[in-house]
Amino acid sequence: MSSVNDTAHSAPADFEIIEADTRLRHAQCVQIRTRVFVFGQNIPAEREIDEHEDTCRHYLALAGGVPVGTVRWRPYTSGTAKVERLAVLEEARGRGIGWRLMAHILAEIGDRTEITHVRLAAQDPIIPFYQAMGFEVIGNAFEDGCLSHHNMILDLRDRLGGG
Ligand SMILES: CC(C)(COP(=O)(O)OP(=O)(O)OC[C@H]1O[C@@H](n2cnc3c(N)ncnc32)[C@H](O)[C@@H]1OP(=O)(O)O)[C@@H](O)C(=O)NCCC(=O)NCCS
Repeated sequence: MSSVNDTAHSAPADFEIIEADTRLRHAQCVQIRTRVFVFGQNIPAEREIDEHEDTCRHYLALAGGVPVGTVRWRPYTSGTAKVERLAVLEEARGRGIGWRLMAHILAEIGDRTEITHVRLAAQDPIIPFYQAMGFEVIGNAFEDGCLSHHNMILDLRDRLGGG
């Protein structure tokens, strides 16, 4: 289980996170990602949907039943999971939804004893958000979609106090 404090930010009262495990729910994830990354950050649409869609587990944040945020994760290397495509609709930001999405999937990943590390590629302005969850920057900056990124890693054993 993740030790991220998911009560630190106040999400809407009628808020829930579900796994997007049907075609309709996955389409809703893609719809949010399209608004946030393709229209919001000029990421080419052909790069937004990639070859990992089927191997990822996708999640949706619902406020009053309406999809407002998404994230996905997948096995990356042995013992490591990779989190990708964290996105919250602009009108829903600043209410703890991104934080809760991350806390939710870190808890799920943390329940899998074979996974000891979680990796992600953070857009530079979002690095403090991930650092607050325990992620550390590794390596040098790189460009992706014309945006500067750094890889970050979280050691789940540190978080659980294990060895
Ligand atoms: C990043 C993102 C998912 C955050 O979602 P959110 O629901 O607004 O975030 P939260 O409300 O849960 O914020 C949690 C904390 O992170 C901080 N935070 C949120 N966005 C941040 C940002 N862009 N930069 C720095 N800190 C940020 C908040 O201030 C808050 O901290 P606080 O409680 O000390 O104020 C959202 O801004 C987003 O979709 N951005 C565009 C897509 C994107 O950049 N995705 C990440 C790719 S690496």
